[in-house]
Amino acid sequence: MSENILTIDNLVVKYGNIQAVAGISFEVHRGEIVTLIGSNGAGKSTTLRTISGINKAVSGDISFEGKSILGMKTYQLAKDGIAHAPEGRHIIPGLSVEQNLEVGLTARQKSGADSIAKDYERIYTLFPILGERKKQSGWSLSGGEQQMLSVGRALISKPRLLLLDEPSLGLAPKVTQQVFEAISSINQVDGVTILLVEQNAFMALNVAHRGYLMENGEIRHSGTSEELMASAAIRDVYLGA
Ligand SMILES: Nc1ncnc2c1ncn2[C@@H]1O[C@H](COP(=O)(O)OP(=O)(O)O)[C@@H](O)[C@H]1O
Ligand SMILES: [Mg+2]
Repeated sequence: MSENILTIDNLVVKYGNIQAVAGISFEVHRGEIVTLIGSNGAGKSTTLRTISGINKAVSGDISFEGKSILGMKTYQLAKDGIAHAPEGRHIIPGLSVEQNLEVGLTARQKSGADSIAKDYERIYTLFPILGERKKQSGWSLSGGEQQMLSVGRALISKPRLLLLDEPSLGLAPKVTQQVFEAISSINQVDGVTILLVEQNAFMALNVAHRGYLMENGEIRHSGTSEELMASAAIRDVYLGA
């Protein structure tokens, strides 16, 4: 059995009276890409935000590398190895591409200049356009380029677990393809474990090892990507087959 890097146990999250996450349990093994798919409002982003300490759980538990992280601050979790590229990218206006990447450095454990330079190079190899535009304002990039920057900023913190929220949102198919190739490479080449939230079930299952389908705050189906792709319930509703 592979080791769980992340274990979610009976997690409940509410906004006032709205139960956005209704007692879900799932796990991510070290080295995997796991996807959380489901339509708008299913509770996917709330789940990611609770893992990274932005939202508070009402009950249940979240453990990372075998220790409960419930109640920990977002900043501390980032330092401890959980990076979050949020829905909507959150590129900081007024900062260049390079400076936006630098923000990710603040969440990195102390490391030498050589190793930092190498990791910048890695990001510019994954996303050459960021290298070409490093002096340009991050805000002036296209949606796809901003998504690349958001992933790059998460990656420069050297996470062991990367949380990606809807990287395909609003992107043209060709750009989505490019971003997903990078996601695959970050997993295979850099060895980063990834929890990928997506409405685009087809793209997500294509790149992930396993997946969970969320509906109304609950997990309705789970399995390997092959199993989920073949499941009638998912094909009819989410894959348009
Ligand atoms: N800040 C908020 N305040 C109140 N309700 C919210 C807030 N954010 C999300 N919700 C509600 O929680 C539910 C889950 O939302 P969300 O986690 O964003 O779903 P998803 O990411 O799957 O689209 C939805 O019903 C949504 O309307
Ligand atoms: Mg969302």
